[in-house]
Amino acid sequence: MSSTAVTGIGELVTCDGTGPERLGLRSNAALVIEDSVIVWIGSAADAPAADNRIDVGGRVIVPGFVDSHSHLIFAGDRATEFAARMTGQPYDGGGIGVTVAATRAATDAKLTGLLAARIRELRALGTTTIEIKSGYGLTVADELRSLQIASQFSPETTFLGAHVVPAEYVHDREGYVDLVTGAMLHAAAPYARWIDVFCEPHSAHAFDADEGRKVLTAGAAAGLGLRVHGNQLGLGPGVRLAVELGAASVDHCTYLDDADVDALAEAAEHTVATLLPGVDFCTRSPYPDAARLLAAGASIALATDCNPGTCYSSSMPWVISLAVRELGLTPAQALLAATVGSAKSLRRNDIGRLVLGNRADLTMLDAPSYLHLAYRPGVPIARTLDVGFTGQQANAQPSVLS
Ligand code: NIG
Ligand code: FE
Repeated sequence: MSSTAVTGIGELVTCDGTGPERLGLRSNAALVIEDSVIVWIGSAADAPAADNRIDVGGRVIVPGFVDSHSHLIFAGDRATEFAARMTGQPYDGGGIGVTVAATRAATDAKLTGLLAARIRELRALGTTTIEIKSGYGLTVADELRSLQIASQFSPETTFLGAHVVPAEYVHDREGYVDLVTGAMLHAAAPYARWIDVFCEPHSAHAFDADEGRKVLTAGAAAGLGLRVHGNQLGLGPGVRLAVELGAASVDHCTYLDDADVDALAEAAEHTVATLLPGVDFCTRSPYPDAARLLAAGASIALATDCNPGTCYSSSMPWVISLAVRELGLTPAQALLAATVGSAKSLRRNDIGRLVLGNRADLTMLDAPSYLHLAYRPGVPIARTLDVGFTGQQANAQPSVLS
């Protein structure tokens, strides 16, 4: 087994919860890695000998970003829908059907190639773990193949058969929920770690609280962990359903009332509020108040939600800069939310923090300080350091819950 020393780290941000702002900052540091695992951390002057050496020339190393919410497996394009939205057209989830049609029509090879290209893109932006949802197939066969393909790229796959009610079932919603909780779940479960539902009373296409509860309960019985799309388009039952059922994450949380914030604070140990400010940007929605959530004691995460409808960006640095500018987070809070917070939302301890025994998922910033993530919005200063990549370990990557 060969070892690699990463030296010349001007600023090492371990996100290990120690020191000012819990960032675990160290200057002039080094790391040693064996078999993609961190085996030594210390000052550069004390670094032990290793078989290989990567000198990062005084740059910053942070934990690879954990993007805990994406819809990366799809075909087709909705740029015109985005353009219409920018001139005032509201988002209601109706465009999802356009992507469903394009995804069903694509070959396996086409879908695999599109997903691979998107993963190369996000990796180049510093992301080392990506959660990938199905939800643009919405037949047993199309959901199954979406998850089969996605699971070749990431262990964090989510069955989202309950994304919207597809056109062929609009007059039989109950029949579609039966399909999702029956044959579709049965086919999907071997290729998914999680199940998700778009629980949104403000969209005619999405699912109400009772339907959401049925979907999540069936998913839990099939051994899947729970995630929820909630409170995206207005106040609603998503957050409280997620907390009630012990979901690992409730995502969007754009509209929250006091009871939602209290519920999230109460459930902070096991349910994370995942904020997706890229969606709020791309749908001209208000931004959630992340500072209020933190003050109440809730756990928060940041993710992109990269998808063709509400946010076609895979850039975690951009999400971090938006969170600082628009959600009321400090740069340190935003970085923690995009690493250790999103790892928590995936119930993973082996990523998101650079500590002994964790995966050596490293992202390098071409900057003198992590503050530049927020200070230089839109400038490509972050990239993955090539010493091991969770997103390409596919099924070889064990999850802490499985
Ligand atoms: O997270 N809200 C539901 N699903 C996605 C959007 C999917 C789409 O519009 O294609 C979201 O925003
Ligand atoms: Fe989403």
